[in-house]
Amino acid sequence: MCGIVGYIGNRQAYPILIKGLQRLEYRGYDSAGIALLDDGNLNVYKAKGKVSDLVHFAEQKNIKGTVGIAHTRWATHGEPNQVNAHPHYSQSEELAIIHNGIIENYAILKEGLQAQGYTFHSQTDTEVLVQLIEYVKKSNKVDLTKAVQLALNQVIGAYAIAVIEKNQPDIIVAARKGSPLVVGIGEDEFFLASDATPIIEYTNQVVYIGDEEIVTLQRGKQLKIRTIADAEKTPEIKKLELTLSQLEKGGYPHFMIKEINEQPKTLSDSMRGRVSHEENEIKLSGFIDNKEKFMNASRIIITACGTSWHAGLIGKYAIEEFARIPVEVEYSSEFRYRKPVIHKDDIVIAISQSGETADTLAAVELAKSQGAFIFGICNVVGSSIPRNTDSGCYTHAGPEIGVASTKAFTAQVTVLTMLALLIGKEKGTLDKDQYTNIVAELGLIPDKIRHLLKQDAVIAEFAKTFTYAQNFIYLGRGYNFPVALEGALKLKEISYIHAEGYPAAEMKHGPIALISQEMPVVVIAPSAGMYEKVVSNIQEIKARKGKIISIVTEGDVVVQNLSDYTICIPDTVECLVPLLAAIPLQLLAYHIAVVKGCDVDQPRNLAKSVTVE
Ligand code: G6P
Repeated sequence: MCGIVGYIGNRQAYPILIKGLQRLEYRGYDSAGIALLDDGNLNVYKAKGKVSDLVHFAEQKNIKGTVGIAHTRWATHGEPNQVNAHPHYSQSEELAIIHNGIIENYAILKEGLQAQGYTFHSQTDTEVLVQLIEYVKKSNKVDLTKAVQLALNQVIGAYAIAVIEKNQPDIIVAARKGSPLVVGIGEDEFFLASDATPIIEYTNQVVYIGDEEIVTLQRGKQLKIRTIADAEKTPEIKKLELTLSQLEKGGYPHFMIKEINEQPKTLSDSMRGRVSHEENEIKLSGFIDNKEKFMNASRIIITACGTSWHAGLIGKYAIEEFARIPVEVEYSSEFRYRKPVIHKDDIVIAISQSGETADTLAAVELAKSQGAFIFGICNVVGSSIPRNTDSGCYTHAGPEIGVASTKAFTAQVTVLTMLALLIGKEKGTLDKDQYTNIVAELGLIPDKIRHLLKQDAVIAEFAKTFTYAQNFIYLGRGYNFPVALEGALKLKEISYIHAEGYPAAEMKHGPIALISQEMPVVVIAPSAGMYEKVVSNIQEIKARKGKIISIVTEGDVVVQNLSDYTICIPDTVECLVPLLAAIPLQLLAYHIAVVKGCDVDQPRNLAKSVTVE
């Protein structure tokens, strides 16, 4: 959601900014724009649509300048068009701003500015902010950094901003609260971005800007950080572990299919140093350091959104089965606003691929303020959620660029499973032999995924049959109910086919009315766990002529004979089936979307990192 890039140094800014915007395209956006300072001119170019549309428009203009800011906008206030795209000029056109987030009190601020003679061209909250900065700057006769600080003191909401000034060709001022911002430090140059992906090409030295911090990037000077409350901060330089090749498609047509195929490796990476296959033991430092908290927890609350919420549901099944601790799984957006009951001996687990989801971050803050112990399961190192939790565990799936989450999901499930097994073993609620057996099975999962990925061509072939479909139903029981939800979400997200996930037994309470020979029904029916019950559900669909696509364990013939299409997965223990069953569902959604000609990596209206609530 909204991408920010900035550059100040000795090189031409335009190519760096455009490349940076392209790296941020994965976050989701609907217009783009750029502002460049050249020889006393502050030039702003904007376009509706893709970064390529911006390039087409801007390249006929003056694109010179060694200072600039650029933006991809995901519309919140006002439709996605050229006027609402960022950057926005101030009234005098002396300032230009880019912004990610929402200024909640923009209407009242706007009224005040209008009373002072300010006029507005766009419907955005962002234009209000840049006018406010200009007004504060002029009326207080202060420099840009001070003006940003004073203006932000009047603002309620979330933001990451960058501002440049026509008469100050050596400075970019940026600030954040709630929305991410990273500064890259090169030789005599600075880079600024929403995440490290546009920066890694130039430097691996970065500073993550903290909430309510204002950073001044000044040519030839050290980085300066002050808080909105005017305290000085020393920049903490970190080294990026990211590599450029992780951000490229590596020969695949889309990031999503690359990421699906990476799963044997990413799951090994999630387990590396944590699962000892020789000793069949699990070690998680986030657990070891806080063992007592886990031993004494009376309840675990999992908070997350989207795919991460589905991973949380699987975590609930595993933690309740092995650790015998009650688990509640909450949508972060509901949890944060519904006055939840949180006790001091609760553990709140926040799951987030990006580590930036605004609602999950707010849920963390709420739980923290009520004294709960917060454990994060995140993928992006250094992101906001892990920086706000008491402890946690990175998923180590590597950068996920496709908007539809795939490898991050299986990595989240892996971490949750390791955690559940570990708590169960330490509490003595999980039998030692069962523990040893599951840990050994866990170690076999990457190879089993490698094996099942070989069915890609088969799935691609039968996916062609389903491009006619307007609706899909996904069914599963037990651990595979959340997998059904996730399979349906994948299809919705990238193929725009309406899909519903249901617990298989719930079908009788409504969805069965939808079944006809037109309706494809995906049923997850592995041998491990409630197999006979699922077979009965399949019979019920068959009796109503639904088209059955089944996911079965290799060697199963019963379900295969009842199905129109079958995908086989290797055998494993019940709690690990989601790690296998999720993969063919990812492939199915991918291939249907490709045949339909959809933009798989950047589906319409979706954002990868949802930094506004
Ligand atoms: C967006 C993404 C989803 C993701 C969800 C939660 O909707 O498109 O793929 O599951 O946000 O994101 P998080 O980064 O918190 O896991």
